[in-house]
Amino acid sequence: MKTIKVGMLGIGTVGSGTYKALEMNMAAIEKFAGVHIEIAKILNRRPEAKRAVDVPREKYTADPYEIIHDPEIQIIAEVMGGIEPATTYMAEALKAGKHVVTANKAALAVNGRMLQQLAMDHHVMLRFEASVGGGIPIINAVSDQLVSNQYDEVLGILNVTTNYILTQMTDKGADYADVLRDAQEKGFAEADPSGDVEGHDAANKLSILISLLFGKEVLPKDIPTQGITAVSAMDISYATEFGYKVKLLGRALRTPEGLVCSVEPTLLPVSHPMASVSNEFNAVFVKGNAVDELMFYGKGAGQMPTGSAVLGDIIDIANCIVKNAAYDLQPLLSYDSEMPVLGEGSAQYYIRMTAADRPGILGRIATTFAKYGISLESVMQRGGGTANPGAVPSAGAAFAANIAPSMSGSEPEPSVPLIFIVYKVDRKALDEALQEIRDKGYAESINAVMRVQER
Ligand SMILES: NC(=O)c1ccc[n+]([C@@H]2O[C@H](COP(=O)([O-])OP(=O)(O)OC[C@H]3O[C@@H](n4cnc5c(N)ncnc54)[C@H](OP(=O)(O)O)[C@@H]3O)[C@@H](O)[C@H]2O)c1
Repeated sequence: MKTIKVGMLGIGTVGSGTYKALEMNMAAIEKFAGVHIEIAKILNRRPEAKRAVDVPREKYTADPYEIIHDPEIQIIAEVMGGIEPATTYMAEALKAGKHVVTANKAALAVNGRMLQQLAMDHHVMLRFEASVGGGIPIINAVSDQLVSNQYDEVLGILNVTTNYILTQMTDKGADYADVLRDAQEKGFAEADPSGDVEGHDAANKLSILISLLFGKEVLPKDIPTQGITAVSAMDISYATEFGYKVKLLGRALRTPEGLVCSVEPTLLPVSHPMASVSNEFNAVFVKGNAVDELMFYGKGAGQMPTGSAVLGDIIDIANCIVKNAAYDLQPLLSYDSEMPVLGEGSAQYYIRMTAADRPGILGRIATTFAKYGISLESVMQRGGGTANPGAVPSAGAAFAANIAPSMSGSEPEPSVPLIFIVYKVDRKALDEALQEIRDKGYAESINAVMRVQER
């Protein structure tokens, strides 16, 4: 049986998982692929460090170019992470005629166009199934089996750390800081979780999905991104009362005017299939014009699920090599769409503000919303009763009719939270309305603004 030699850059979580998955399933892989795959050399800058797998010492090298320029190595798996030096190593490997498999969403989101061009120029494959959704086979499914579709929408719960934290906050009614500590202890969050909790990891993955599904280059920095650090247990509890779950959602939507995209904490109706995606699970929901709605669900990260995805790409490539089949050089990412990028577009929103518990305030706020063309779907006033006006086309007028006209009175009054869900509105108009509500003193503070996913 022919042997295909693989070089691996890095031996951390994903590298160990890749190595272990190959050891575990070697016989089945050989039977399926008709080839023996050997991870022959591994970049390891700390050969003394304890690793999650036992690797013969002679496989280690501290010099990446000993792997990149090894004539016997045909495939390089980049599992070291970070934009640099990973991008440079991948570029050099492609130039040296090696096929490259990577799990590195940060490098791909920023340098995917350049790396893909190098792969095409040098007639080698660049594969990256593990970069989005860990073990979930989304990349190869949409670019192979589902290639007959034009995609209209993608929604993704794309980050394990944030999904674990939001699920625990929902289930335990606990606050962000407490749950983050617990997540760090259990290994669901890094010591420095900023890349995850601020939404940047999800934005990298959404950028890859946009290029894959919509043929458009939208760099992560151009995707409006908001993380979960400001999400409170209070908002999650109110969302639950309204029939929603709070999830960090990446989404991109094709509209007649252009591409809408964002990563932000979002209220998902409990009836939406994505609402039940909990803890370390992730999911990608796509809507194609032929296949209609599809959801891909699975472990979004972790040693073995991600190792499985990296190994799957390695096996595919090895299979082509050994069968002398033409390489699948069809670029997976494309960047030629002229569709304008609109940012967040218009949406329904959940708003929580704090206002004095005084007659007339609710009406003034509703009137201000109405002035900006914003209609209220639901209103909840805690401490001062609950109202749910249902579909109120001009909510301002409806409330204004019921309020006392003046804001007089100098005694300090208790404050109450006011919670609104507004019908579809442009974010700019909403921000202007909220600014006026604040400037005129109708609300003491605007505490939370979150997008609401349509039912
Ligand atoms: N972890 C997951 O579940 C997961 C899921 C999907 C995708 N990914 C992606 O997979 C990649 C790897 O992630 P990971 O979690 O496996 O990271 P990790 O556990 O930190 O492992 C990274 C490995 O690369 C090595 N490395 C990093 N920079 C290096 C450099 N400049 N020179 C030499 N070696 C270097 C590290 O060496 P040291 O050990 O010496 O530091 C370590 O062996 C990242 O792109 C990540 O985004 C990870």
